[in-house]
Amino acid sequence: MNYKIALVPGDGIGPDVVAEAVKVLDAVGVKYGHQFEYETVLAGGAAIDAMGECLPQNTIDVCKKSDAVLLGAVGGWKWDTLPGDQRPERALLGLRKELGLFANLRPALLFEELAEACPLKPEIIEGGLDIVVVRELTGGIYFGEKGYKDTELGRAAYDVEQYAEEEVRRIAVVAFDMAMKRNKKLTSVDKANVLESSRLWRSVVTETAKDYPEVELSHMYIDNAAMQMVRNPKQFDVIVTSNIFGDILSDEASMITGSIGMLPSASLAKGNFGMYEPVHGSAPDIAGQNKANPMATILSAAMMLRYTFGLSKEADDIEAAVKAVLTQGGRTPDIMSPGKVSLGTKEAGDRIVAA
Ligand code: NAI
Ligand code: MG
Repeated sequence: MNYKIALVPGDGIGPDVVAEAVKVLDAVGVKYGHQFEYETVLAGGAAIDAMGECLPQNTIDVCKKSDAVLLGAVGGWKWDTLPGDQRPERALLGLRKELGLFANLRPALLFEELAEACPLKPEIIEGGLDIVVVRELTGGIYFGEKGYKDTELGRAAYDVEQYAEEEVRRIAVVAFDMAMKRNKKLTSVDKANVLESSRLWRSVVTETAKDYPEVELSHMYIDNAAMQMVRNPKQFDVIVTSNIFGDILSDEASMITGSIGMLPSASLAKGNFGMYEPVHGSAPDIAGQNKANPMATILSAAMMLRYTFGLSKEADDIEAAVKAVLTQGGRTPDIMSPGKVSLGTKEAGDRIVAA
């Protein structure tokens, strides 16, 4: 089959890690007889420098006509003095909105080879960790009405948390589908003891559950979930939650796996369209030095194969290859430990291709 992929390398280490993911995709293409066609476009600081805006219309157009988008990262010191509304990072919000990416999937997977990097006690993580946070990405308080008003206590600011039933239903469906593909266990996180929007959230999720009788659904308050994530993270499999709770909880979940260079993500729209990117930023401190860990981006490419193209065997191959390189002792600087084999960005990519 032919697949069209828009590449948005972006800034800093973005181009370094996207290049390695392309190598791996090409190897998968050769092995299975798929044709991956790439079109590279600019976003972030690179686009500001070349075209005066962080998200040129051409970038949006190319992404829209592709089957999927693979993004590196945007931003960097060079553009840090620009006013907020002109910063490279705005390209991300623009892409999410333009592409209708309402579901953000963030796996927090702890490879047993990297267990020493996990900040939790060994007995808590015995047997590894494998959690997916499904975060609503285009609604809630980040997009609700906001403003200022006068009150008895002086000027006040407000941001409105609002969810429509349909917004909750579509993210719940993504989460239940995910649970069906995994271990049939879903935790919905809200604050239904105090928030009206959370009560609606809970009732829509409960209603959606009727279509998934095999999935074991539980509800948890966000404050408890934040605590359970470090106390007993193994109780979680798939978590579904709102934009703001998911922002915080997915960062917490990913950090208990210890290494930002290992964490992929997917943002999905209706149909199977998706944008795939590592969780980390542009790491300007190590850009262009062959030091960045490409595994987060390579694992993001694996998610693209699985969720947008439905190529799960191919995705399994990539994940197994990453694991094999870790088992062989291959480590980029961010995950290096004594006695292991030091790899640069390119060498890590080559080893994964070979595996
Ligand atoms: P960062 O994730 O870029 O870097 C944090 C630390 O982790 C740095 O020491 C960096 O060297 C290291 N690191 C990150 N990715 C790595 C990798 N693949 N391999 C090895 N080490 C890695 O976060 P920071 O420093 O807060 O932000 C840098 C720039 O990136 C900023 O302009 C920020 O706005 C932007 N950013 C962009 C994101 C995106 O495009 N999705 C997400 C987060 C930040
Ligand atoms: Mg965040």
